[in-house]
Amino acid sequence: MLKSKLCDFLGIKHPIIQAGMGPFSNNKLCIASANAGVLGLLSTSGINTKDSQPGIFKSFAETGGASPDDDKETIFRKIFKQTFEGTKKKKGIFGINVMVSAELKDSAEFIINTAIAAREENPQLKEQFKVIFTSAGDPMPWGEKIKGAGFKWLHVVPSVKGAQRCQKAGVDLVVASGHEGGFHTSWEPIHSMVLLPAVVEAMAGSNVLVAGAGGFCDGKSLAAALALGAAGVQMGTRFLATEESDFAKLWKEGVVKAGDRGTLVARGFVGPARWVKTATSLKHQENTLKYTPELYLDRPGEMNEGALKLIANEIEGMNAVYAGDESKALIAGGECAQRVNDLPKVQELVDRIVKDAENIISGLAKKHIAP
Ligand SMILES: Cc1cc2nc3c(=O)[nH]c(=O)nc-3n(C[C@H](O)[C@H](O)[C@H](O)COP(=O)(O)O)c2cc1C
Repeated sequence: MLKSKLCDFLGIKHPIIQAGMGPFSNNKLCIASANAGVLGLLSTSGINTKDSQPGIFKSFAETGGASPDDDKETIFRKIFKQTFEGTKKKKGIFGINVMVSAELKDSAEFIINTAIAAREENPQLKEQFKVIFTSAGDPMPWGEKIKGAGFKWLHVVPSVKGAQRCQKAGVDLVVASGHEGGFHTSWEPIHSMVLLPAVVEAMAGSNVLVAGAGGFCDGKSLAAALALGAAGVQMGTRFLATEESDFAKLWKEGVVKAGDRGTLVARGFVGPARWVKTATSLKHQENTLKYTPELYLDRPGEMNEGALKLIANEIEGMNAVYAGDESKALIAGGECAQRVNDLPKVQELVDRIVKDAENIISGLAKKHIAP
């Protein structure tokens, strides 16, 4: 049976994290993942779309078992309750992904406070709602609150420098996220094959665990991550394309349809983002180069008229996904979309990934080491 320190640390069966993926709450996906023995993560970013993208906000609330008319705290409480109810029989382990970038600081604080309060009120919830996963910002201000409340703290980083900052901040596990990953990517891209072992080496001798993200989607890539010294992997694009995933049909199918060289990087809300290659995303890439070329020089550039045009296009592209309008849709996904060719049930997927990884790992020595 495949085991790692990640399994012991979180009390999960398999060394896999189902990535938090906005803008849905990912409620059904999180429940299915936690019940399949991996860490299930709820996304929380959709809570910020109430005024800017009401259609997305509605989906966020409804996939979480709440109503868009509920106040924000009630929405989260319903999401946590529904997740707990759906996982308590199998004692599945879950958590929340919270973006903590400077402009989302107040929102992040509110989400984390709500999570802490909900957990304090229900001791049973404590056994399963174990994780706060912070992303997209500086980890430094958050340790006392998160760890003080008894949560396990995970944070995602794009660099060794970021991992070292996490170590200083007291993060328990860093997810080293390579440039292959879906949706928002880092400004200065490094791919998993270099980033993951570099972060593992930098964290050696400390108590900080390391998982890989970006490009991991099957038994082969899980086995590779373990060989690179990781305690496990986080998978986003692969879990997006599952039967239980809360993502819109067009989004899931867009990932499955992506072929060879099937993604590109262009502007995406707060910075560079990886999109599935379509006529719409190719045009968006062209416009990114035209209006905010600094993006390809790893700099944000100015918020000029061109940048605003791009944001409007991104909003339209996301809304088109929900409306089922393929001609305008912008579909976020990782490079591994080209290796994702089906929409399995989460349990079947996890079983397949783990079995393949076990076979690969046990077969490697027989195949390559001479007696
Ligand atoms: C559609 C989509 C939405 C995402 N949304 C978020 C998010 O809200 N917060 C976050 O930290 N990461 C987000 N991510 C990144 C994932 O958490 C994960 O790190 C990434 O998908 C891993 O790479 P992979 O797609 O190759 O598996 C998103 C990824 C995708 C594909």
